Amino acid sequence: MGSLGGKSSAATSHERGVSLLEDGAAGGGLITSADQALDVMEFEPVARKVLPPAHFGYLATGVDDDATVKANHDGYAHFEIRSRRLVDVEKLDTSVRMFGTTWETPIFLCPVSAMKAFHPEGEVAVAKAARSRHSLLILSTVASSSVEEVTAARGEPVWQQLYPTNDFNVTRAIIKRAETAGSPALVFTVDLHENSNRETIARARRVDDRDCTNCHESGFAGYVRRKPMFDGLDLSKVTGLHSSSMTWDFVKRLKDATRMKLLVKGIVTREDAQIAVEHGVDGIIVSNHGGRAEESLRPTVECLPEIVEAVKGRIPVLLDGGVRRGTDIFKALALGATAVGIGRPYGWGLAAFGQPGVETVLTILRRELEAIMRQAGTPSVGSIGKNFVLRKS
Ligand SMILES: Cc1cc2nc3c(=O)[nH]c(=O)nc-3n(C[C@H](O)[C@H](O)[C@H](O)COP(=O)(O)O)c2cc1C
Repeated sequence: MGSLGGKSSAATSHERGVSLLEDGAAGGGLITSADQALDVMEFEPVARKVLPPAHFGYLATGVDDDATVKANHDGYAHFEIRSRRLVDVEKLDTSVRMFGTTWETPIFLCPVSAMKAFHPEGEVAVAKAARSRHSLLILSTVASSSVEEVTAARGEPVWQQLYPTNDFNVTRAIIKRAETAGSPALVFTVDLHENSNRETIARARRVDDRDCTNCHESGFAGYVRRKPMFDGLDLSKVTGLHSSSMTWDFVKRLKDATRMKLLVKGIVTREDAQIAVEHGVDGIIVSNHGGRAEESLRPTVECLPEIVEAVKGRIPVLLDGGVRRGTDIFKALALGATAVGIGRPYGWGLAAFGQPGVETVLTILRRELEAIMRQAGTPSVGSIGKNFVLRKS
């Protein structure tokens, strides 16, 4: 497999995390084991090398020109860190608390669909990594492993992401199954309609000479045939994962249908944050689906401050999109995020080296976060206030 073609540009070290289709690691050979990685970006070219073009394209793709994928990461460069000196940072506390549970770090694993496309052990390998690194894992509705298998591999219940479909009987069945598996939180993704314009994956498919119909069947029932969450459900009324007629009333309906905490994922404005709070949601995830929904060009870290301001501390505000460095996590925390998620980086780690790859991605980000916490003079996550960042003028 060679270059996938498409819109590539020279990768600077700053851009490596979101480079989409370039060949090779910038400035050197590829790492051959997870423990060689200096940063999480080093997993990306390995993933590109080992994955079939269409599968790497699926992981990499944004929409249109992939400019929002890039903007998400570049957004962190709009903020500078104001470090304080002579603070006792010998002992660091990276823990955060959400819904009565304490997590060792604020770094969580975002819902990413179909992880067996990246490694045969898929979500189970990810769950084992989350277990060994004590990380929060949010499982996609369209995961390629079941919530029961993933819960067993994680050693405790995971949060369940929800694509409700257009049939509430199916929604209810998904909720019931997650509740039975012990999931304490339901993450309702609200940022995606059918048929977002993903050109990078379409281009990658052109250079993939395998017969995709061996695995990918047509129609909705065909699509979910290898998505265990839909096993045994009557899908005769389902036209797709997303319903474009859905409104905030649906949130009320979900609240009535479950005892799990309800988070909405995909909020990018203060107006929607305010409406979410009014509808009694328990948490918000500031996200633009990793630039895979609309080409807004607006980094999630730029959306965060107005949402934090609107929420006024009433519920947790989580964030994802373009997070590739401990300093990115630090900046998001300083701007008011409660926890910070990664998607593609752990996909790269999984594709490259399976469970150890995901573990190393989590270890590196934690190490980098601890390094900047020490440097900036912030001994705990709670001490990382907004005075520690400055927006570049
Ligand atoms: C391959 C892939 C599949 C994804 N699948 C889902 C999904 O099933 N549900 C969901 O809510 N978000 C999904 N996302 C979005 C992620 O949860 C997350 O918002 C995004 O990846 C964060 O940006 P990052 O990849 O730059 O870290 C997916 C992202 C990728 C890259």
